[in-house]
Amino acid sequence: MKDIIILAIETSCDETSVAIIKNGREILSNVIYTQIDIHKKFGGVVPEIASRKHIEKIDLIFAQSLEESGLNFKDLDAIAVTYGPGLVGALLVGMSYAKALAFGLGIPLIPVNHIDGHIAANYLAFPDLKPPYIALIVSGGHTHIIDVLDYGEYKVLGRTRDDAVGEAFDKVARTLGFPYPGGPYIDKAAKDGNKEAINFPRTYLEKGSFDFSFSGIKSSVLNYLNSMKMKGIEVNTNDVAASFQEAVVDVLIEKIISASLKMNHKEIIIAGGVAANSSLRKRLKEEAKIHHLDVFYPPLSLCTDNAAMIGAAAYYQFKKGIFANLDLNSVPNLKL
Ligand code: KG4
Ligand code: ZN
Repeated sequence: MKDIIILAIETSCDETSVAIIKNGREILSNVIYTQIDIHKKFGGVVPEIASRKHIEKIDLIFAQSLEESGLNFKDLDAIAVTYGPGLVGALLVGMSYAKALAFGLGIPLIPVNHIDGHIAANYLAFPDLKPPYIALIVSGGHTHIIDVLDYGEYKVLGRTRDDAVGEAFDKVARTLGFPYPGGPYIDKAAKDGNKEAINFPRTYLEKGSFDFSFSGIKSSVLNYLNSMKMKGIEVNTNDVAASFQEAVVDVLIEKIISASLKMNHKEIIIAGGVAANSSLRKRLKEEAKIHHLDVFYPPLSLCTDNAAMIGAAAYYQFKKGIFANLDLNSVPNLKL
C-alpha cells in the first residue's frame, strides 16, 4: 500500500509547530517553536502577541520541517490543521497557512480537533496501540475522561465543571511565585516537599461521577497561603507544591481507574500537558498494575502542544475521507 504523508500545522495557543507524519505513526519531522519565554513576562498567554508571533515564525518553521523530513511538496498527500479549540487569532494563522498550501498543491485539507491530537500523540509512541481504551486528557484548557470507541470516535464520560487541571497547576504555581506555565515548576518543587504536610481537599463530586472540580483546591491553597502570611509563619513552598499535587493526582487516579473498570477497558492512555507530570505518571502506573490495567503516556516532548500529534489524528480522518473546504472557520470552543 502507498504511504500516506501528511503535513500538519498546530498554532492553537503558544506553540508554532509543523510536522510531517508517515502513515499516522511515524514522525519524519516535528519542529516546535515555543513562545513561552515571551508570555512568561505577562504571567500567561497574551492572545494578540501569540497570533503575531505565529505569523512571524510559521514560514520558518514550515521550511525547517520540510527540510528535516527530506521530502518535497510533491510527496505530501494532505495538509492537516488544528481548527479548535484554542485562541481564535492564533488558530487562524495556522489555518490560513494550511489552506494556502492545500489549495496551491491541490491536495485535501484535514480539520483536526486539538484534543483528538493530544490523544493521538500516543499512536506515535506506541505503534501497536489501538482503540478501544479509556483516555484521560489533562491540559491547560481541558480535563476529560473519554471512552475512545474507535479512531476519532469518542464518548465523553466526565469533564471538569470549572478549572482545567493545568489551569489549577498554573494558578497555584503563580501564587507560589513560579513563572508561567507553572505545572513543571510544581512538579519539580514537589520532589523536595512533604506530600502529607497539608491536607488539601479532594473533590470527588457525586458518587459514580467522572466529572472534576478543581476550583475548591485552588481556593484552599490560596486560603492556606493567606492565613500563613497573616500569622507571620513562613511557608515551605515545596511542601505546598507536594501536598497540592498529591491531592490533585489522588482524584485523577481514582476517577480514571474507576472509569476503566466500569467500561471494562484494559488500557488507559493519558494525554495533554499535565500528562508530563511525574507523580501522575508514576502513581497511575502503580495503581493500574494492581487492577491489571496497562497505562500508556506519550514521551514528554509529545505531551505538550506539537504538530506531530495533529498529523497522527489526521491520518485516521484521511482514511475515512473527512476533509474540509477552504471556507473552514476556526472554532475556539470546539468540543470532542
Ligand atoms: O497541552 P498543553 O501544552 O496546552 C494546552 O492544550 O492546554 O498543556 C499545558 C499545561 C499547562 O497548564 C502546564 O502547566 C501543564 O500543561 N504542564 C504540567 C507539567 N508540564 C506541563 N503540569 C503538571 N506537571 C507537569 N510536569
Ligand atoms: Zn494542548
